[in-house]
Amino acid sequence: MAKEKSLFFCRECGNEFPKWMGQCPVCKAWDSFEEAPAISGPARKAVSGSVKTSGMRTNVPVKLSAVKREENERVKTDIGEFDRVLGGGIVKGSLVLVGGDPGIGKSTLLLEACAKLARKKLNLLYISGEESLGQIGMRAERLGCAEDDVLFLSETSLDVIEETITKDKPDIVVIDSIQTVYREDISSSPGSVSQVRETTGSLMRLAKSLSVTIFIVGHVTKEGTVAGPRMLEHMVDTVLYFEGDTSSPYRILRAVKNRFGSTNEVGVFEMQGDGLREVTNPSEHMLEGRPVGEPGSVISASIEGTRPILAEIQALVSKTSFALPRRTCLGIDVNRLNLLLAVIEKRMGVPLTSYDAYVNVAGGMRINEPALDLAVVVALLSGATDKAPGDKTVIFGEVGLTGEVRGVGRSGQRVMEAQNMGYDTVIMPQVNVKDIGEHTIKIIGVRHIRELKQLPIWQKLKHD
Ligand code: TYD
Ligand code: MG
Repeated sequence: MAKEKSLFFCRECGNEFPKWMGQCPVCKAWDSFEEAPAISGPARKAVSGSVKTSGMRTNVPVKLSAVKREENERVKTDIGEFDRVLGGGIVKGSLVLVGGDPGIGKSTLLLEACAKLARKKLNLLYISGEESLGQIGMRAERLGCAEDDVLFLSETSLDVIEETITKDKPDIVVIDSIQTVYREDISSSPGSVSQVRETTGSLMRLAKSLSVTIFIVGHVTKEGTVAGPRMLEHMVDTVLYFEGDTSSPYRILRAVKNRFGSTNEVGVFEMQGDGLREVTNPSEHMLEGRPVGEPGSVISASIEGTRPILAEIQALVSKTSFALPRRTCLGIDVNRLNLLLAVIEKRMGVPLTSYDAYVNVAGGMRINEPALDLAVVVALLSGATDKAPGDKTVIFGEVGLTGEVRGVGRSGQRVMEAQNMGYDTVIMPQVNVKDIGEHTIKIIGVRHIRELKQLPIWQKLKHD
C-alpha cells in the first residue's frame, strides 16, 4: 500500500499547502498550520463531511446574501464623460485597455485625464514607447497641462517599466502603447501576439500585487501585422474603445467590457485644437445651426449606449442626369438608403427611380440604428417634394420591406428627449406607444408607412 500523504491547512484562512510553514504565505498568520490526511480520488466525497466540521475545507459554497460586498475604491478623473464610461471613476488596482484606431485621440484623452488626476495629488506615470519626451512635452503644452505633475518615461522594455513602477509606486500608470512594449526573455518582436499577451499578463500581475491602476493603450490595426487589442479583452478588467471618423471632430468612448460597471454607457467628445472637449448634451450639439423650415430636414431620436441623442437627417432628392441615379450617404449605410427608396416606391407609390438621393446625418455622427428608418423615409419624401415637414416633430421607427413600421427599443427615452428638447410631436411605431410613460408631447403612432399619407405632415409634403 502506498504511503498515506498528508496536507497542511492554515487555520486562519483555510488555504491548503503541500508542506508545513511557520507563516502562511496567504494570510500571513504565524503557526497556523494543521496537518490533515490528503484525500484523493473518490474517497474525497465520503469524508467531505468530516473535513467540513473540522473547518478545514478550502473552498466552501456560501450564500449570496452572506457574501461580503466589495467596495471598490474609485477616483474620479473629473472628465465626466470618461468617468461615466468607467462606471463612476477609476477603480484602484484595475487594468484598463483603451483601444482605437491610430490618431483617434487615445493619447490625448489619457494625457488629459492624467493632468486632471495630478491636480488631485495622485502620483501619475505616463510611459510612452511611441513618442519622445519632447513630443509629449509639446502635446502637453498644447493641451494646457504642461504645468501638472505627471511623470513621463519614454521606454519600451518591460523590465525597466516594471522596475520603475515597483520602485516609484505611482497610483496610476499609462502604457502607451502595449504594441511597443517588449519582454527581453521573449524572442519575438514587439507587437507580436506572444509579446503583447505576455507583457499584458505581467502588467496584470503588477496591477493586482501593487494595487496600481494601469491603463494600456492598444492600437486597432486592420492589417493584422501588429497584435490587436481584441485578444487582450479577456485578460483585462475593463475594455474601452475610442471610436469616430477622423474626418469629423466627434469621438465616442464606449465600454465593451467592464468588471466594475455597466457597458451601456458611452462618452461623447469633440476633438478641438487644444484637446478633447466633453459633449454633455449631444442632442443640442447635433442640432446646432439646424435649418428651420427647410425641405429635406427631419429630426430623429437615436440611442447611443443608454443615452438618447436627437440627430438631424438631411435628404436631397433631385432628378438625375445620369443613366443610373446616384445614391450617396454620410452617417448611415447606403444599402439602407437603397432599401428605403425601394420601399417608398413600391409601398407608397412615390416614383423615385429617376432621382438622385443624398442622405446625411448632420454633425458628422455615424448612426447604425434601424430606428432612424422612418425619419429617413420622411426626409426623402420631403426632399422629393421640396416641402418641409413640421419643424417641431421628431420621427423614429424601423421600416420593414413590406412598409410596416416596426417597434424599436427604449422608445420612452427617445420620447422624453424630444419633449425635453422642446419638440411638440413625435411620430413613432404604434407598437411602442404603450411603452412610453407619462408625457405631455403629442404622440402619433403609425403601423405602416402608408399611414403617413393620413397625417398632417403629408398635407405639407404632398405635391400640389
Ligand atoms: P492622438 O491622441 O495622438 O491619437 P492616438 O493616440 O489615438 O493615436 O491624437 C491624434 C490626433 O488628434 C492628431 O491627428 C491631431 C489631433 N489633435 C487635435 O486635433 N487637437 C489636439 O489638441 C491634439 C493633442 C491632437
Ligand atoms: Mg498615441
